[in-house]
Amino acid sequence: METIESAKQKFEELIQSQKQRVADMRAQGDFVDYAALDTIVIGICGGDGIGPTICKESERVLRFLLKDEVASGKVEFREIDGLTIENRAAHMQAIPDDVMKELKACHVILKGPTTTPRAGDEWPNIESANVAMRKALDLFANVRPVKIPEEGIDWTFFRENTEGAYAVGSRGFETEDGISVDFTITTTDGTQRIAELAYDYAKRNHKSRVSIVTKANIVKATDGKFLKLCQEVGKKYPDIATDDWYIDIMTAKLVDKKRRADFQVMILPNLYGDIITDEAAELQGGVGTAGSGNIGKRYAMFEAIHGSAPRMVQEGRAQYADPCSMLRASVMLLSHIGYQQEADKLEKALDICMSTEKKLVITGRDTGCTCSEFGDYVMQTVEKL
Ligand code: IPM
Ligand code: MG
Repeated sequence: METIESAKQKFEELIQSQKQRVADMRAQGDFVDYAALDTIVIGICGGDGIGPTICKESERVLRFLLKDEVASGKVEFREIDGLTIENRAAHMQAIPDDVMKELKACHVILKGPTTTPRAGDEWPNIESANVAMRKALDLFANVRPVKIPEEGIDWTFFRENTEGAYAVGSRGFETEDGISVDFTITTTDGTQRIAELAYDYAKRNHKSRVSIVTKANIVKATDGKFLKLCQEVGKKYPDIATDDWYIDIMTAKLVDKKRRADFQVMILPNLYGDIITDEAAELQGGVGTAGSGNIGKRYAMFEAIHGSAPRMVQEGRAQYADPCSMLRASVMLLSHIGYQQEADKLEKALDICMSTEKKLVITGRDTGCTCSEFGDYVMQTVEKL
């Protein structure tokens, strides 16, 4: 419980910490040029629940696709243990120091889902490992593609990943009068960089439209700024049409079959991006089918958008976990580090295995194939391409 005086103090600390974050953002160099590196280090970080199973499978597929690069030393895989809820709880840290050191020694990371403690469960109240990693490695863009080819849907969401409701999500407080406050933060630099990345992606991929999604009519200071700055960046791209939507109507439009295929690239503040990408993934066939890239200038991390499915492990079904989300994330990883041909091959094979051919089906239990049988199926399909 805070008094007005101690609340003021907390608020001041919070603003100071954000000023420091902006200074760090400004001091950063440009994006890593992977082609110029002697060795690209890919960290494999299993996480909790079904994480290690689906991560290991993706590593197997990645090693298969990159076998020449591994043999020549251009690519190195490193397994990183210790990002488990047990270890995090033992250290009372979202990411224990030694794990953070190992993460920072990699260029890109493939990460399995991790348990996020919530009030009332058996775990101490430590910050989500995802959120901590996004912040610590400054992974400012969460890029989430969703495709439904038979409907002509090809969406790419650019979710701002370090600000908004997540920036100081664990630093809200309650005053002694029963008033609880949380903070949402939008910075000029933080908004410009996500907008620039989204428009640059739109241009490089010949997209004709970018939609900015906010609630700027109500959340005026932060969402208002986000909208205005994205529109300003949009003006530098005269060949791309920019429009803007409020999050509520956008949520409705994604289920409007007459309109939804018209959307192409969307830019959103963190929390709206979190919510709407689950909706979009569900339309594609479930959150288990979607991968995501967390992109920063120095680091990038690729992951599933779903959770760790502890029930599957408790019921002894982990070997039947669906690796598709992690394999989709692996497509993004390959493309990000410059192996576009390998990324295309994996994507094509996944489309065949998941939609057109479906020789093996994952059901999450012994009525379907196992995770590693599916991995074999994907690799055999790649070989036939
Ligand atoms: C996501 C997840 C995370 C988030 C959770 C696990 C902290 O829902 O990646 O979308 O809220 O960002
Ligand atoms: Mg989410």
